[in-house]
Amino acid sequence: MNFFDSHAHYNDDTFENNRDELIKKMYENEITNIVCAGYSLEKSKLGIEIAKKHNHIYATCGISPNDLTDNTKEELKEIEKIAKNDKVVAIGEIGLDYYWNKDNKEYQKEMFANQIEIANRLNLPIVIHSRDAWVDTIDILKNNPVNKKGIFHCCQLNQELIKEALKLDFYISFSGNITFKNAKSAGCILLVPDNRILIETDSPYLSPEPLRGTVNNSLNVKLVAKKIAEVKNMELEEVANITRKNAMNIFNIKE
Ligand code: NI
Repeated sequence: MNFFDSHAHYNDDTFENNRDELIKKMYENEITNIVCAGYSLEKSKLGIEIAKKHNHIYATCGISPNDLTDNTKEELKEIEKIAKNDKVVAIGEIGLDYYWNKDNKEYQKEMFANQIEIANRLNLPIVIHSRDAWVDTIDILKNNPVNKKGIFHCCQLNQELIKEALKLDFYISFSGNITFKNAKSAGCILLVPDNRILIETDSPYLSPEPLRGTVNNSLNVKLVAKKIAEVKNMELEEVANITRKNAMNIFNIKE
């Protein structure tokens, strides 16, 4: 089986001392494609370096709503330059986070919209981080259409959000949160058609059950796929295949 982890952070400091071995180990254990997601200028640059070293790794570039500074506008000029690299498959993660940051909502919206413009200029999809901010997120997408669409990464388990995202032709990426015991995930998973669903780990965060609380890595994307297979009544291999195909489509990756 071949699994595509559509979102992980091998650019995180957690992996500073073992990232190359770990990435190699992933490939040897059926994780044949991984997108290393950027969230700041520095980490976007590092993601590209990692992707250049490993054939099966791709990068996204962008500044997340939790990494905005007074200097973000300047940094975005640099993001636009580095995002022209061949291994960059999307602008992200970008979006709104009212869970961690409630005091700069207007600035978050402005920087989100600015990065959608970058994606459109470069003809790339976007990877969205949206936490406790789904109404404004959908609103921005309606007012600032993204030519190549994109993905709701680590999608919150909110049926209204998922319906709106699907109407806008976005993909839904599920992470370890669908395995959590009190997560009402089945209803959300069943809303997403087979041609719109992705899987991810968001490593090093969000380890799925039964590994919750440990450092996550891409091997655990299999546990996310397993949960989807149970809910959708599919074989694990089928989930691996459709999510991999969907990821190849949205990121425009050829075999
Ligand atoms: Ni992330």
